[in-house]
Amino acid sequence: MKAIEILVGEHDSILKMIEVTRIILNSDDETINLEHVEQIIDFIKNFADKYHHLKEEDILFVEMEKFGMSREFGPIGMMLHEHNEGRNYIKLAGESIEKFKNGDRSAFEQIKYNLLNYCELLTNHIAKENNILYPMAERILPAGVLSAMSEDFKISNASTFENEYFDRYLKLVLYFSEIYLN
Ligand SMILES: [Fe+2]
Ligand SMILES: [Fe+2]
Repeated sequence: MKAIEILVGEHDSILKMIEVTRIILNSDDETINLEHVEQIIDFIKNFADKYHHLKEEDILFVEMEKFGMSREFGPIGMMLHEHNEGRNYIKLAGESIEKFKNGDRSAFEQIKYNLLNYCELLTNHIAKENNILYPMAERILPAGVLSAMSEDFKISNASTFENEYFDRYLKLVLYFSEIYLN
């Protein structure tokens, strides 16, 4: 599989979990499945932010910089800014869940607010990468760089802690898709 196809595949998994999140958040503070919300936050922190965003930040964007793109300005600067905005929403959502679990019912709205903002942000972010940034990468990066990157991605996906990339996170996407998206 090509490097960009691996990244687009990860986007598809993230988008499914965003759809699931919106469905789960469509309940009230009495009926919400908090355990599933916490599993989604864990997925976002590890699969989306660690395994996916770090492939972009530490590998793809770095290669694009070598071929003349700025890390501070333009599309890469914007993508990095959005990764940080996303991290902030997830941090705040996690804090609100703790408050809610400790009996603060008013924290429910904060959980919803931060997670829905994250879903909106990431949906737009992914569209920009799929439609603008990734095609740009395929234009400016030499074939050899792209194929080395693909090997790199395959090796890192196959060597995660307890194979969690596949056995925990991709399985969770399938499991939640069956429950919520059928
Ligand atoms: Fe990104
Ligand atoms: Fe991405």
